[in-house]
Amino acid sequence: MVRITEGKAKVYVNNAVFYNPRMKGLRDLSVSFLKAIGCEDKRVLDATAATGIRAIRYAKECKAKKVVALDINRDAYNICRKNIRLNRLKIDAKNMSIREYASNCRDKFEIVDFDPFGSPAPVLHDLLTLCGDGSIIMVTATDTAVLCGAHAAACIKVYGSKPLHNELCKEVGIRILLNYISRTASQFNFGILPLLSVSDMHYMRVFARLEFGASNAVGSVNSNGLGSFCRKCYKFAFARGIAPSIEGVCPTCKSKVELFGPLWLGQLYDKGILSKMRKNSDLKIIRTISDEYDTLLFYSVPKITKLLCRSSVSQRRVIESLLRSGKEATRTQFDIDGVKTDAEPQRILSLIKKL
Ligand SMILES: C[S@@+](CC[C@H](N)C(=O)[O-])C[C@H]1O[C@@H](n2cnc3c(N)ncnc32)[C@H](O)[C@@H]1O
Ligand SMILES: [Zn+2]
Repeated sequence: MVRITEGKAKVYVNNAVFYNPRMKGLRDLSVSFLKAIGCEDKRVLDATAATGIRAIRYAKECKAKKVVALDINRDAYNICRKNIRLNRLKIDAKNMSIREYASNCRDKFEIVDFDPFGSPAPVLHDLLTLCGDGSIIMVTATDTAVLCGAHAAACIKVYGSKPLHNELCKEVGIRILLNYISRTASQFNFGILPLLSVSDMHYMRVFARLEFGASNAVGSVNSNGLGSFCRKCYKFAFARGIAPSIEGVCPTCKSKVELFGPLWLGQLYDKGILSKMRKNSDLKIIRTISDEYDTLLFYSVPKITKLLCRSSVSQRRVIESLLRSGKEATRTQFDIDGVKTDAEPQRILSLIKKL
């Protein structure tokens, strides 16, 4: 057993219980998010606590009013209790599954952190029974190969969506996850409002507010839809709603398009929260996301130059030139060479030809 420090938490870690130091950045991001929305009057459930590192950081750094740390694993529960004592905190540790806890618990939590191994899909339903109007859920998925289309059949099976297996896959994957969450939440009469969505390394994580009421639930289900992508001219198109019709050929060049979805077509971020996060943290990912133009998908500069059989052009020059022509244009967290813009692909292609 070794003792480590992360943020303001001191924790013992050992080989029997999950602790990944490389996920510190994601935990820092979650702390920054909770500081931005304010936690002093909120009850927080860390539903997959492992060593208790998040529960402890939320109590110490975000000053959460009450924290419950849950884990199904006995070793995790034991080390979590030891770590709570080490930090002199009053966190309620529980050794049971989320299903067991949800079926016995009368409390609702304003904040629920869910950080499972692999997909969050099988347990999401139980977790939502612990939420009320205005609750915030923070959900991690590490089955990114599934969401990004390396295993398309698994994505169809688990999430009910057809993924896209190309440079757009991370954003499509996060939107497939949000589609799944919105449909599951709607069974409880909740609509969802995504406040922050992050894709990094081998994980995706979404932060969303639940809004109670039939019209919220229907509205958010209707914020999903289908997408199409044309490899020949880089046109993507979307059809919103529960039973949308979408063309199988590209509206621009009439080539056969690749269809994907259903996926979430609404917002990924709340810029107000991001600007508060920028003030309480200097994480690079927060800067990238808060500068990002929140629109559907993006253009990969190297893919377009390849399509045009041109030599490479820098992303910075493409962004500058789009901005000069009066368009929105920013980098994106989803692709180091990607550009988010409101410009049509023909315009981007002709602009890149001139650079
Ligand atoms: C990826 S680890 C969590 C890591 C932790 N959040 C961190 O940042 O270090 C997932 C944990 O969830 C626990 N777990 C898995 N399924 C569970 C369930 N159905 N109910 C409660 N805990 C569960 C596992 O025992 C494991 O400790
Ligand atoms: Zn086309």
